[in-house]
Amino acid sequence: MNELVIRTPDDWHLHFRDGDFLAETVPATARCFRRAIVMPNLTPPVTTADLAVAYRQRILAASPEGSHFEPLMTLYLTDKTTTADIRAARRAGVVAAKLYPAGATTNSSAAVSSLDSLEPVFEALAENAMLLLVHGEVTDGDIDIFDREKVFIDRHLEGIVDRHPGLKVVFEHITTKDAVDFVMDGPITLAATVTPQHLLLNRNDLFVGGIRPHNYCLPVLKRSTHQQALRQAVASGSPKFFLGTDSAPHAKHKKEASCGCAGCYSAWSAIELYAQVFEELGVLDKLEAFASEHGPNFYGLPLNQGTITLAKRPWQIPEVIKMSDGDTIVPFFAGQTVGWQLQG
Ligand code: NCD
Ligand code: ZN
Ligand code: ZN
Repeated sequence: MNELVIRTPDDWHLHFRDGDFLAETVPATARCFRRAIVMPNLTPPVTTADLAVAYRQRILAASPEGSHFEPLMTLYLTDKTTTADIRAARRAGVVAAKLYPAGATTNSSAAVSSLDSLEPVFEALAENAMLLLVHGEVTDGDIDIFDREKVFIDRHLEGIVDRHPGLKVVFEHITTKDAVDFVMDGPITLAATVTPQHLLLNRNDLFVGGIRPHNYCLPVLKRSTHQQALRQAVASGSPKFFLGTDSAPHAKHKKEASCGCAGCYSAWSAIELYAQVFEELGVLDKLEAFASEHGPNFYGLPLNQGTITLAKRPWQIPEVIKMSDGDTIVPFFAGQTVGWQLQG
């Protein structure tokens, strides 16, 4: 097979950032994806309907001429979020709320420190047909960083899912066999996004002849057995798993630093890298459902009508991307060759 035509996909988890980043990040995603779930971890975070509407306008203003790209906005939960905030967000077209445990990841210091007090907010999300998107890691310093996802399931996520049967929950960027099993065995209201980096890499890839900051993201890469479980999950064709790149750009000097930022900027090669994984797994026929059907079906949104074409043609991901302000970003898989290329 030299050409693959699939329904136009969506990205169910990404970070556009703001300001000068938008001129780079929005076209990169719009080249391939029709819609994207836009994460709200800006500084300051997107905590109200008004902030979400304004951010959406800035994203649309950065969309390429003639593009039909549609950003799907999310609300950043804090200890102070009220049920009225949820209702206002719903009226403004916000589709989901994002739960970051305080301190779990980039720009999460203003996020949630007490999950119990959010129970009424979770109820309001369900009542307003909005989804709960979860960065599922505990932040306790005494929990090993490789165990934080599993401990979050046991301490928090299982309870949230059990107590709110009417709430759709997306377990974002899953990284472990524990998460795969939890989602597989859970109710139909529970699904997960899977990133290219967690399908392609394991924790050895953080230390190949030296420390590899551009493979560092959160949740951190896990051991190979977990990577294999994620690959089996997407290969199974289960509708509970769908595409979410977690494309998360940071300037080069902020990744290559004494305290480097977490996040992989994969927008320029995401669909191609997923195609590579599905080909390696011998399930290219399942790529379309993973990329273009399971997500909208779970969110209760229509499927896209157009198609994209991927050609089997090796190409090299650039070493570096220059931004308009002079800063640079090192993309995920920089300098490496990918077997598939998006056409047009
Ligand atoms: C994301 C970011 O940089 O915003 N980083 C990451 O490593 N995934 C935040 C997140 O998704 O946790
Ligand atoms: Zn996250
Ligand atoms: Zn993310």
